[in-house]
Amino acid sequence: MSETLSAESALARDGAARIEWVRRHSPVLDGYVRDAVNDGALRGTRIAVVVHLEAKTAFLATVLADAGAEVIAAGSNPRTTDASVVAALRERGMTVVADAGGDYGSWERELRAAADCEPDYIIDDGAELTMRTAEHRPDVFARLKGVSEETTTGTARLQAMSAAGRLPFPALTANDARCKHLFDNRYATGQTTLQAILRLTNRQIAGARVAVVGYGYVGKGLALYAKALGARTFVTEVDPVRALEAHTDGHTVGARRDVFPQAQIIITATGGMRAIGAADLPHLAHDVILANAGHHDLEVDTEALAAAAASAAESRPGITSYRIGERDLHVLAGGALVNIAGGSGHPVEVMDLTFAVQGLGVHHLASTSLDPGVHILPKALDDSIAAAKLASYGIRLDELRTDQLDDHTARMAGTADGGSPA
Ligand SMILES: NC(=O)c1ccc[n+]([C@@H]2O[C@H](COP(=O)([O-])OP(=O)(O)OC[C@H]3O[C@@H](n4cnc5c(N)ncnc54)[C@H](O)[C@@H]3O)[C@@H](O)[C@H]2O)c1
Repeated sequence: MSETLSAESALARDGAARIEWVRRHSPVLDGYVRDAVNDGALRGTRIAVVVHLEAKTAFLATVLADAGAEVIAAGSNPRTTDASVVAALRERGMTVVADAGGDYGSWERELRAAADCEPDYIIDDGAELTMRTAEHRPDVFARLKGVSEETTTGTARLQAMSAAGRLPFPALTANDARCKHLFDNRYATGQTTLQAILRLTNRQIAGARVAVVGYGYVGKGLALYAKALGARTFVTEVDPVRALEAHTDGHTVGARRDVFPQAQIIITATGGMRAIGAADLPHLAHDVILANAGHHDLEVDTEALAAAAASAAESRPGITSYRIGERDLHVLAGGALVNIAGGSGHPVEVMDLTFAVQGLGVHHLASTSLDPGVHILPKALDDSIAAAKLASYGIRLDELRTDQLDDHTARMAGTADGGSPA
């Protein structure tokens, strides 16, 4: 018993150290945001934080708890929960309805348990808890005061609910804040996805043919980092403007049946399902590595792969190799987000921005009265986060002088003589 207890407290100590490392490198969340949310607006509110449950999420949860909220922590994917972080948060007295090493069944039960905690607000990822609360606890759903959503996929789900007249509360799309998608989706996912693929496979990237499926903010970052590491980059898209953008950015753009047979690594980033599906399997080259950076674990359709394969085996930790005819197709991290399930997730500096958006977002929901529907974080708050980050780097920003406005704009602003508006 005492051995179990000491193992648990060693785990909690490890988790606390990881959370402290995040705090050290999160000047915006630990300074500007901490001060802003500490005005009493969150005191006594119950906030469910349902994002990949590792140290960066845990630090956000502690900032909200320090501001007086009762925080319930759960995971947004069964493969990304960190046992040490769970232990540290529990030791701190926080309600955590997640355990590491679970499967989809246990995760469903955890999310239902989170809904049963009857949160006022949800900080969600993929709208996973919001959707389950609607199904499992419609009474709690009807009383929800607001949701702040992390992802592109979750935003699409909330917008669909709103269009169907089934969103009785305001939802903020953190993903649409520029301080989120310009840095998190693009740079953080680009860096950490390539990092995870290289670590899991121990293969060379320079000279490799890497195909990216979907050229949104995430796809742009993936292609950017792959190219910077010396890869020959390919893109497949369904949106003509984004395909043209990829071409102009210097990547080879083509239809999947032209691109896939050449690719040695394919990374999906569409936010949809089956970006590599059953119909694509005949076009995949022998020994190709398939990795997913999008929200759905089925962007690489592992069910279709399993159905088509004569055998499947773990070639290395985190690599499942499917034998289809004469070809071996390798899937990383079971098809889950490879940078989180197969890596350490986003860099702390970037999550400092993303979680600043989420922290200020839930505070904005609690301190203003927004209509039901999907909203974006006010530009002034978005700007204030970037300004705090720049200040933490010691970077000074210029202000536009009125004599720098063109004459027409100055007249409209009432400052044609360069003086103050009348
Ligand atoms: N791994 C991470 O850490 C991480 C971080 C941020 C976002 N995400 C997730 O990544 C996904 C993409 O996010 P985003 O911000 O780039 O979204 P986005 O909407 O900006 O881009 C998605 C792109 O995929 C294209 N697309 C859709 N279906 C396609 C298909 N079948 N084939 C080819 N192209 C297709 C779309 O036209 C679009 O250009 C989302 O699921 C998001 O939640 C993951």
